[in-house]
Amino acid sequence: MALVTTKEMFAKAYDGGYAVGAFNVNNMEIVQGITEAAGELKSPVILQVSKGARAYANHTYLVKLVEAAVELNPEIPIALHLDHGDTFELCKSCIDGGFTSVMIDASSKSFEDNIALTRQVVEYAHDHGVVVEAELGTLAGGEDEVSVEAGKESYTHPDEVEEFVTRTGCDSLAIAIGTSHGAYKFTPAQCTRNADGVLVPPPLRFDVLKECIKRLPGFPIVLHGSSSVPQEFVKMVNTYGGHMPDAIGIPEDQLREAAKLAVCKINIDSDIRLAMTGNIRKYFAEHPDHFDPRQYLKPAREAVKDMVAHKILYVLGSDGKA
Ligand code: G3H
Ligand code: 13P
Ligand code: ZN
Repeated sequence: MALVTTKEMFAKAYDGGYAVGAFNVNNMEIVQGITEAAGELKSPVILQVSKGARAYANHTYLVKLVEAAVELNPEIPIALHLDHGDTFELCKSCIDGGFTSVMIDASSKSFEDNIALTRQVVEYAHDHGVVVEAELGTLAGGEDEVSVEAGKESYTHPDEVEEFVTRTGCDSLAIAIGTSHGAYKFTPAQCTRNADGVLVPPPLRFDVLKECIKRLPGFPIVLHGSSSVPQEFVKMVNTYGGHMPDAIGIPEDQLREAAKLAVCKINIDSDIRLAMTGNIRKYFAEHPDHFDPRQYLKPAREAVKDMVAHKILYVLGSDGKA
């Protein structure tokens, strides 16, 4: 199967009550870990590339790595998506350079400016057979140059979504319902603590999600900032020399609920970073004399694969849907 757009993936996910995982890729081990898990579980998957990933690894390297994964996993649909494109030029460069999907994130602009820029990207993308994700509302956390303090995010206004989608022609919409980027999604002050002293985050705003769905029947919704920040990885990082106090994510059961509704794409990056870093720290601590990168990148890649398999089976519900 060649690279695909997300059109059919989302139509099937919407009807089937599951979501497709969108995992950020920055290097070969990450591409391999994700696609090996998706391939074995016969799950569709979205590989997404941020502006920062392109700056780090180079557009051509990333496209070729993804093309290799497509060739080695012919039975599953794979989409290549630009994550958080912030200009028309960046989106155009990815559309011209082989991506099948782009996100234009003009969510920090005014409603009218967001519509104008999104519309411009949609026109170019659709002329080239590429689909477009847009965003309304702002998440807390940071991505590339944009950083929004916890507590300063703004939820999507459901009364704006219909006009936004109609006027832009976008193919999917990222909304803000309380998810957040990074490994520190909430300040301890925003959380409660359970009997063991573990932070419990505020619940996602399912009321906002359901209002958006009512106004956009059949339309695919996207959730960014959806890492769960598994405490086993946080513990591993902290045990082997790291320092990530009070790192906290979105509970998996809430993401599973969202996936059963109109949420068709769930974005995960921080959990990949944690899985790799925790395992590399552990490896270094246990093998201080090793210096061959293959020795520590192998368990890191294996950890990404196991983590993605867990998401596919227990959070996204996309296994067997290829
Ligand atoms: O939402 C942002 C993603 O986690 C990408 O992060 O811009 O550091 O590559 P990055
Ligand atoms: P996390 O930081 O929760 O993994 O979110 C990633 C994301 O939204 C990428 O666009
Ligand atoms: Zn994001």
